[in-house]
Amino acid sequence: MGNPKEYKIQNLKIPDHVAIIMDGNGRWAKKRLMPRKFGHRAGAEKLRQVVRWCADYKIKYLTVYAFSTENWQRSKDEVNALMNLIIEFFGKYEDELRAEGVRLNFIGELSDLPQKTLEVVQKAERDSQERNRIILTIALSYGSRQEIIRACKLYGDALQSGTMTPDQLTIDNFSDFFYAADLPDLDLLIRPGGEQRISNFLLWQLSYAEMYFIDKLWPDFSEDDLYQALEEYSGRDRRFGDAR
Ligand code: IPE
Ligand code: IPE
Ligand code: MG
Repeated sequence: MGNPKEYKIQNLKIPDHVAIIMDGNGRWAKKRLMPRKFGHRAGAEKLRQVVRWCADYKIKYLTVYAFSTENWQRSKDEVNALMNLIIEFFGKYEDELRAEGVRLNFIGELSDLPQKTLEVVQKAERDSQERNRIILTIALSYGSRQEIIRACKLYGDALQSGTMTPDQLTIDNFSDFFYAADLPDLDLLIRPGGEQRISNFLLWQLSYAEMYFIDKLWPDFSEDDLYQALEEYSGRDRRFGDAR
């Protein structure tokens, strides 16, 4: 452990659950006078690297925002490119994801996806269930407000069928109605791309997460940027409302 960087890493507080809003692909492509889909391809490559870095840091849960419910409003060309990129991504990296021990989860309104994309993500999720080095949750066609409304409807169903009574509802069991009920609370949210907003991502789950915004565009996000986010997180005083 003579290496100062390794020494520093040993002193990091590693969050259990990190979320990333993978933003800035379009601007990254524009700077290169390329179509936006070129930026999305670079963004997908970046995700592949970041999963590996996070697994090496022993981060157990990584949740990434890949496509929001509002992103359906983009041009047909861009949406199609993204839907095809998802298919290509899982075709290309299936072996690597297996070798890295990545278990996949998808959250969002998956029934809105084109049939072929839906089949690919469902298969990728199914095939990965035995792995457990890192749990990668990908938010696709995801909106947090929509997730909360959906949870309310499912809760309504539980009331109607008599499996629950109103006084049984708690913060814990309300989240059982979310897309991924078994994910722990978020510790750290990283948003590259320069915007300082949540854009309808995990509103409930972010309640006590630490926020880290960085100006760099997602395809430019580096291993050192991840390290710096973790270093900043390690120095934060998380009080959860307590007077410490
Ligand atoms: C994030 O990059 C990826 C998706 C939203 C699908 P953007 O496409 O939002 O890139 P910018 O923010 O326009 O640069
Ligand atoms: C959030 O980025 C969604 C994803 C990164 C998938 P957007 O680019 O859609 O968010 P806004 O429009 O800047 O709020
Ligand atoms: Mg954006």
